[in-house]
This record gives sequence, structure tokens and C-alpha cells, in this order.
Amino acid sequence: MRILITGSSGMLGSALCPLLSERNDTILATDINANGGAVCLDIADMEGVKKVFADFGPEAVFHLAAVTDVDGCEIQQEEAYRTNTLGTENIVFSCMKRDIPLVYISTAAVFDGKKKVPYTEFDLPNPLNVYAKTKLEGESIVARSLKRYFIVRAGWMIGGIDKDKKFVSKIIKQLDGQKEIFAVADKVGSLTFTKDIAKGLLSLVETERYGLYHMANKGSCSRYDIAKLIVKFMGRDDIAVTPATSEMFPLPALRPDLEAIDNFKLTLMGMNNMPTWEEALEEYVFMVKKSREPVGL
Ligand SMILES: NC(=O)c1ccc[n+]([C@@H]2O[C@H](COP(=O)([O-])OP(=O)(O)OC[C@H]3O[C@@H](n4cnc5c(N)ncnc54)[C@H](OP(=O)(O)O)[C@@H]3O)[C@@H](O)[C@H]2O)c1
Repeated sequence: MRILITGSSGMLGSALCPLLSERNDTILATDINANGGAVCLDIADMEGVKKVFADFGPEAVFHLAAVTDVDGCEIQQEEAYRTNTLGTENIVFSCMKRDIPLVYISTAAVFDGKKKVPYTEFDLPNPLNVYAKTKLEGESIVARSLKRYFIVRAGWMIGGIDKDKKFVSKIIKQLDGQKEIFAVADKVGSLTFTKDIAKGLLSLVETERYGLYHMANKGSCSRYDIAKLIVKFMGRDDIAVTPATSEMFPLPALRPDLEAIDNFKLTLMGMNNMPTWEEALEEYVFMVKKSREPVGL
């Protein structure tokens, strides 16, 4: 099958592309930055999108490209809507014209966090920040325009090692030379290991049971819970991890108190094979440690 990927150089793309390449698929990996072998495609450029579709003739699309810096989106709202909403519309338009299926990755951040237990696919979104609003708009464009689509909401993404721009990489960088680190304990979410969701996406797509899904590692945790385990898995028990409130770290974008998700539909379908967040984190930290080992001659 001929598969087009947008945002292929990012955290998730770096896990998904190798898996697709292992199968007999012909893939075209695209990203706004033509690095790591990706073809340059800005999804907000309608003519560019049309040309890539015409030249490559995809039979399916994995649409991962997005501006994912949540605080950046709050500050540069136009850029956020340009890529995450208009860009998604461009991709959807081309899929619609060719009647091909689309996989769109969305976010657990679409919820307002007022619930006390993890959100299922049957809960109503009510986004609190610009990033989540742009992603939810993307969801509705996909759902109202296409017959064959998967909208898959992920939680806090971990993975990518050198591509990792999120919390885990920030914490690991902080460990050198520190005796104490602070991590927010009053916001709870779901971790999503890129390796696990990439595998889960391929299994889900094969079912052709189109629709909206949650796909995160099992269980929920705060940044404080994550930081404690990172310190443990890095073998740095000499470092104290101290719980902090989000008020101690004011950020431009409002975060929901709870953005944990339950893979409810996958469970109903007997397909919730995602490992727990602790297992995922342990595996990822192990990969990071290995990548930091000096390369022998
Ligand atoms: N990261 C998370 O915690 C998280 C959580 C839930 C859902 N998601 C969703 O999962 C998907 C994959 O995210 P990820 O974690 O792999 O994020 P990522 O590492 O930021 O990857 C996104 C990729 O898209 C690229 N991109 C940005 N603007 C673009 C444009 N206009 N045209 C084409 N490519 C563009 C980025 O390039 P630059 O790096 O140069 O901007 C980056 O390579 C996204 O749709 C995201 O919204 C992410």
C-alpha cells in the first residue's frame, strides 16, 4: 500500500516510519523540515499538499504533523491554527477527493479536566487552551468530511530520544549536577510511549473499524510520579524529587487538572494491549540510557 505520512520527523513519526517500512508498504515520509530523509511538505500550503498527493498517489494517510508546543500555541495562535486546523483541512480535502482513509492523531488535552476519573471516547471535549482547540477543530473537520477515518487521541507523548522535546527529556537533562528537582503533582495525565502507540495504530488500522479512539499507556500519573520513576530508572536515587503545585510554575497555556484517558473502546473491542505507563517509562528510560553510552571502537 502507498502510505503518506505528515510530520514524519517528529517523536511519533520516528517510531511509526520504521514500523511501516518493515511491512511491504511504500511510504512517503514528509515534514516541514526535510531532515532525516523526509520530503519537505508544509501541510498549511494547500498547493504543496495537492502536488504531493498528485505525485505520490497515496492510498492511505497518517497525519501526524502539528505544532505541539502547547505554550507556543498560546502565544502564536495564528501559527497554531494555520498548521493544526488549516493544515489538517488541507490534508482532509485531498483525502476526500481521492476517497482514501486517514489516521489523525489528536490529544487528551481536548478535555477540561473537571472529571474525577479518566476520560472515555464518550465524554464531551471542552478544550481550555489554544493547542487543544486547534486539535479539536481538526477532529471535527476529519469527522464531518471523511467516511473512513481514525481519530486517535494520545496522552503525554514519550519517545524519540534526540527528538524528545517533552517532559521526560527535560527531567533527564535536569538530573546532571542536581540534588533536588521539583515536579508538578496537581495535574494528572496519561503517558503514551511512541513505540506502543505506533504498534497499536497499525493493529487498529487493520481492523478497518473506523472512528474515534483513545490510545495511551494504561494508568494515570502526575509529572511528579513520572519524575520519581525517572530518577529511579536512571539509578539516581541520590536526587530528591519534591512535589510542586502548578502555581509554582506559571505557564502561558492553561492545563486541565485531569487529562488522563481511558482506552475504553479498545477495551470493549478486546484490543487494549497498551502496556502500563510504568512499563513504558522503564523501557524508554532504558533506551535513553543506552543512547548515552559511549560508542566503542
Ligand atoms: N507530543 C505530545 O505530547 C502529543 C500528545 C498528544 C497528541 N499529540 C499529537 O501527536 C501527533 C504527533 O506529535 P509528536 O509528539 O510526534 O510531535 P512532534 O515531535 O512535534 O512532531 C510533529 C512534527 O510535525 C512537524 N510540523 C510542524 N508544523 C508543520 C507543518 N506546518 N507542516 C508539516 N509538518 C509540520 C514538526 O516539525 P517542527 O518540530 O519543526 O515543528 C514535527 O516534526 C501530533 O498531531 C500531536 O498533536 C502529541
